[in-house]
Amino acid sequence: MKAVVCFSRPGANWCSGSVRNLETGNTLVVARMIAEWLGCEVHEIEALEPYPGPYKECVARAVKEMKAKTCTPIRGLGLELHDGDVLYLGYPDWCGTFPSPVRTFLSTISDIHLTLYPFCTHEGSGMGTSLDDLRELLPKATIADHIAIHGSEAATAGDVIHSWCARHEEG
Ligand SMILES: Cc1cc2nc3c(=O)[nH]c(=O)nc-3n(C[C@H](O)[C@H](O)[C@H](O)COP(=O)(O)O)c2cc1C
Repeated sequence: MKAVVCFSRPGANWCSGSVRNLETGNTLVVARMIAEWLGCEVHEIEALEPYPGPYKECVARAVKEMKAKTCTPIRGLGLELHDGDVLYLGYPDWCGTFPSPVRTFLSTISDIHLTLYPFCTHEGSGMGTSLDDLRELLPKATIADHIAIHGSEAATAGDVIHSWCARHEEG
């Protein structure tokens, strides 16, 4: 089975030098492109306690969670993964890695032999340390090809995303 899972936060965000209000989060925009290409749906990771709308408040909480390596409580995804499955996992770069709710999700799949295609959106830090962090938290997974998209380019990244997906199908 192939599945697309992502965490994404709509609302006020830092975009190319100023704070902008995003109706749909950048990572979700990219996740939908991947899911459309694969012909599956997107499963969103959602924190039980939503992140604050104002950008600075959100950063303050994210920094606190990151320092404490918190596993923020999340809603159930309604997705069962098994050995041999392929997972496209998307997240925004928050403080140099994936947000805490993604860490929580990873703790639920750490025993599964998956092939993982990580993708992220960011404002300049790219994947940050997230690939190393994934390797540490998913020791049984094969971390395959990844892609980092600048947040402001998410909406127009269709061609880049589709050729990235097509590469995997070609082996
Ligand atoms: C709490 C927080 C921390 C962030 N930290 C970084 C960072 O360290 N490096 C970076 O390049 N972008 C950072 N960003 C910007 C996001 O990665 C970028 O806007 C991303 O596209 C947001 O994706 P989303 O709309 O799917 O949530 C941060 C944004 C937030 C809200």
